[in-house]
Amino acid sequence: IRLYLSNDTSARAAGAAALAEAWSDRSDVQLIRTSSRGAFYLEPMVERDGPDGRIAWFNVSPQDLPAILSGTGGIPVQTIPFLAQQTRYTFANFGETEPLALDEYQARGGLSGLEAAFRLTPDAIIEELRVSQLRGRGGAAFPVWNKWKVAQQAKGAQKYVVANADEGDAGTYCDRMILEGDPFRVLEGMLICARAIGAGWGYVYCRQEYPAAAATLRAAIHKADEAELLELNGEPFPIEVVEGAGSYVCGEETALLESLEGKRGVVRARPPYPAQSGLYGCPTIVSNVLTFATIPQILSRGGSWHASLGTEQSRGTVVLQLGGRVKHPGLVEVPFGLSLHQVLEQFGGGMAPGSRFKAVQVGGPLGSLFPTTGLDMSICYDAFAKAGAVLGHGGIVVYDHETDMVDLARHFMAFTADESCGKCTPCRIGSVRGREILERIQAGSGTMDDLRLLDDLGETMKLASLCALGGRAPYPVLTAIEHFPAEFRSKLRT
Ligand code: NAI
Ligand code: SF4
Repeated sequence: IRLYLSNDTSARAAGAAALAEAWSDRSDVQLIRTSSRGAFYLEPMVERDGPDGRIAWFNVSPQDLPAILSGTGGIPVQTIPFLAQQTRYTFANFGETEPLALDEYQARGGLSGLEAAFRLTPDAIIEELRVSQLRGRGGAAFPVWNKWKVAQQAKGAQKYVVANADEGDAGTYCDRMILEGDPFRVLEGMLICARAIGAGWGYVYCRQEYPAAAATLRAAIHKADEAELLELNGEPFPIEVVEGAGSYVCGEETALLESLEGKRGVVRARPPYPAQSGLYGCPTIVSNVLTFATIPQILSRGGSWHASLGTEQSRGTVVLQLGGRVKHPGLVEVPFGLSLHQVLEQFGGGMAPGSRFKAVQVGGPLGSLFPTTGLDMSICYDAFAKAGAVLGHGGIVVYDHETDMVDLARHFMAFTADESCGKCTPCRIGSVRGREILERIQAGSGTMDDLRLLDDLGETMKLASLCALGGRAPYPVLTAIEHFPAEFRSKLRT
């Protein structure tokens, strides 16, 4: 009998690897290793074909096999509320297909975006993106068409397309899932970009901590090459995977380019932007994996389809990654515009047993902390920008009543001190001084002056840092002090 089991890293960690091992010698079971649906609280999840779609069994252990084989106890996948309430486009294939089955990818609409791009001129592709109002999904939300136009018009002996897979934000994992689970979608998006700007070479810069993603992507590139897909205008369009060496700042696009060139990952001053002068001084599009994965459907369904989803300034769907002390951690794709509260209740299922809500952080280690009073916030770029926060890469981490906010703030500042590239003084020196102040407060020897100093330091780092690492590092610290002042004051020397 044919059973489906995810081969995603998180699913394997949650027990899928042990199940596959336990059932490896069963001649009556054919195990198909799919991508994951992203409902990680249900993993390991085993599915089999039913009369109206797949039937699923949750949190399966090896001894559940007889029930699965006899068909007892499973429930239809489409009735799982966590999945049924989502609007999945970029993640539509997840849990359904084998990641490296190119025929399955095509059967479910894959490559139709590229075919549409071949029917259009480069200008018309960029116009379709302008109509779509797609903004970069890495975190900065810059209009994609605008960046492509700059690269298209820039002069260069060569042009490059670089997918940024250095997904360093704690609490984010959607890029990893895409690379492991639907790699052809990223390659298709990169090819469309290359056609639009006239690029001849592609790279995927993948973080070292994602070995399965890099291996799957390399296998997908090999398959795409065999199928003669990696060609544009009769010329080869090679795509290479390059692995980083564990540095967070190499996710910043110019440090990434330095690293790709074989140098130390130090941030470059901008302008010129990479779209004007990037890899080896040539026009280069550096965009996040999720941005490239969103593009094929915009070409196949049309820019106005994409623009019809979401809110005024944030069109399309947002991919959220729920983690921390929620009952249902996992990946959620919905149109922009739900409130944080709705997402935490409807998808997160509320708090994990035994924990009470204290704060939620959105946008990774550089993201602001929100207390209960901030939960009405609409999940879209404009509302976050208005509140001085960032949606970033969609990571949502929930902290419970046991969290020590002083220790959390110290942890974030220490993270920046560790990861700073050292190029500019506010971040190189400021993050170390900030960590020292917070260590002092934590040790009980800090004063009110230290809190004032942190505020000053934070403002300086925000205004004078060269890149987002130093510029955003004060946000979690200052929002922790703003929303939980009593915790900080109670630790001060009297
Ligand atoms: P940015 O706003 O400076 O630039 C965004 C993009 O637009 C870049 O590719 C830039 O080259 C391009 N761009 C901007 N102005 C341009 C122009 N005039 N012409 C051509 N291209 C132009 O933001 P940045 O510094 O690239 O990214 C910061 C964001 O990264 C943060 O807000 C944070 O949310 C996010 N981030 C994401 C992480 C992840 O794991 N995905 C990790 C850390 C930060
Ligand atoms: Fe480097 Fe920090 Fe300055 Fe960014 S802000 S350039 S990481 S020192």
